[in-house]
Amino acid sequence: MKPIQVALIGLGTVGCGVYQTLHIHKQRLEIQLGAPVELTTVVIENPDKHMKIAEKTTISTDISDILYNPEIDVVFEAINGKEPAFTYLKQCIQAGKHVVTANKEMFAAHGRELKELAQKNEVQIGYDATTAGGIPIIQTISQLFRANQIQQVQAILNGTSNYILTQMRDHQLPFSTALKQAQKWGYAEADPTNDIEGYDAFYKLMILSDLIFDRQPDQKNIRHSGITGITDEAIEKAQQDGKRIKHIASIKYDETGNLTAEIEPIAVPKEHPLYAVEGVDNAIHLKADIVGDITLTGPGAGAFPTASAMVEDLCLILSKQSAPIPVS
Ligand code: HSE
Repeated sequence: MKPIQVALIGLGTVGCGVYQTLHIHKQRLEIQLGAPVELTTVVIENPDKHMKIAEKTTISTDISDILYNPEIDVVFEAINGKEPAFTYLKQCIQAGKHVVTANKEMFAAHGRELKELAQKNEVQIGYDATTAGGIPIIQTISQLFRANQIQQVQAILNGTSNYILTQMRDHQLPFSTALKQAQKWGYAEADPTNDIEGYDAFYKLMILSDLIFDRQPDQKNIRHSGITGITDEAIEKAQQDGKRIKHIASIKYDETGNLTAEIEPIAVPKEHPLYAVEGVDNAIHLKADIVGDITLTGPGAGAFPTASAMVEDLCLILSKQSAPIPVS
């Protein structure tokens, strides 16, 4: 059976997770997909600084090694920031390759354009790993929420923030120590500013908004803050009141079609659907007009939860049953 050839851009925490997942789950993937998956090429910035990888995989610093290799079917992208990720993905799509991305900052800004380009070029784009780590929220909404009008989303979308808040409360750890631990476990970004200042949750909420409501709310009206202002006293006070501080990203759709979004730490009571979401977990609570309330919870950051979302996207793209991922 002809192997399925894939490429990977980026070999940081997530890229290594994808590499290892393809290796560890080789046999299961072959059974599921009917052919072995071969990682042909890895494109990285610095060829002197990377984990040891199998000899038959080419390491390159040049995206052309992916673009001009007609054997490569699917490209995983796991780098940070808008560029060069956006340019690379556009080029891959134009070269007729399916793409799978974990890049939330790039996708929040350019997701719509990439989805349209993918449709035009008759390839698919998987982006479940951009939002809520290992929770299959993008596929769940795009495949299983078609009749329902989702009216409200309340979510914990940053694993680092939730981990820090949990550690500060349960173990009385100072903020800086909890952040260091989150970095050690591979939850936080290389520069954790986006995590703790709420930008990472903002990108993910915008990706969800595009998917659910076919647009993003006016960004200048979005109240937006992270967890850096949360003190030990505030955590203690919430606890005395029977509450927990959670960093919550929410978006609401009203009868007139208006969207309002907020991203901020909130002290929530026991009855709140996100009260019990702890550690690095993320959760998305949806209110929809037919089904009512649903909450999806699971690991929101880290190499393997994110790699899980990316490799599941690969399987969906390659599966004979897979429907094209809708543009919105
Ligand atoms: N730094 C991100 C987080 C990783 O903590 O949620 C997953 O997107």
